[in-house]
Amino acid sequence: MQVITTRSALTPLLLREKALGRKIGFVPTMGALHDGHLSLIAESRKRADITVSSVFVNPTQFNDPKDLAKYPRQPEKDAAMLEKAGCDYLYLPAVEDVYPEGPGKGPFFDLGGIDTRLEGASRPGHFAGVAEVVKVLVETLVPDFLFLGQKDFQQCMVVKRMLDQWDKHHWDSALQEASLNWRPGDVELVICPIIREAHGLAMSSRNERLSGEMRTRASAIYASIQYAEELFPTFSADEISTICANALNSIPDFQVDYFQILDGETLSPANADTQKFVIITAVIVAGVRLLDNKIIIN
Ligand code: PAF
Repeated sequence: MQVITTRSALTPLLLREKALGRKIGFVPTMGALHDGHLSLIAESRKRADITVSSVFVNPTQFNDPKDLAKYPRQPEKDAAMLEKAGCDYLYLPAVEDVYPEGPGKGPFFDLGGIDTRLEGASRPGHFAGVAEVVKVLVETLVPDFLFLGQKDFQQCMVVKRMLDQWDKHHWDSALQEASLNWRPGDVELVICPIIREAHGLAMSSRNERLSGEMRTRASAIYASIQYAEELFPTFSADEISTICANALNSIPDFQVDYFQILDGETLSPANADTQKFVIITAVIVAGVRLLDNKIIIN
């Protein structure tokens, strides 16, 4: 695996791979890797000829500087894990390489309101930061496939929308020739299943910040999602959300931010036509924000 720290070195290498007809798979990460990330690398290796990952703790998606400071960082360990998993290139940039003009300068995309609900309501600006960094990374790597984990369900929707908006409204066609006729709209977004710890907790880099006992206790989050699914045909979405949120809030050190059952295509309240539902929750456990979800097809 080659570790590359600058865009100016990485993009030409990848364009050369593309010119040879190779398909590029991209797994963006903020490091502190776990089996969930490695499952994305495995999926990329199945679908693409070249797998590239990035490890970059993106400052623009943290609305709380304390959260940014506490985010686990272990670049050497991450690099060793990626190499073992068969990743071909690791992009490990400094902030200045990703944002030569400084972080938070955009472009800002019309994210259609998906960005202001749920996570977006509790973390203003978070998804603008995600869209900003994924745009830069995708531009740097010109991938054919982009792999994201379903655990961050809303993030997947935001990224899909960003790629679409970028292609329609912000794509500089002068770049098209330089990027071998690649366009952002051609990137195939592959959403990979949630990988769970043995007791059910969705894997997340943030789990590192929980004690062993808290991690086991946090398995109640997935148990409540499963319970919500059982109740689903009998009770309304609002009733189930209240039952599950109350049950989780009764556990010491748990604080539910949201527990909802929504339309899985729009993240709006479901209606009579909804066929794809998502049970989606964020729970703060001992000060650590944990996300989980499950899709139900009717
Ligand atoms: O899911 C993450 O780790 C991050 O939000 C991402 C997609 C790498 C962007 O910084």
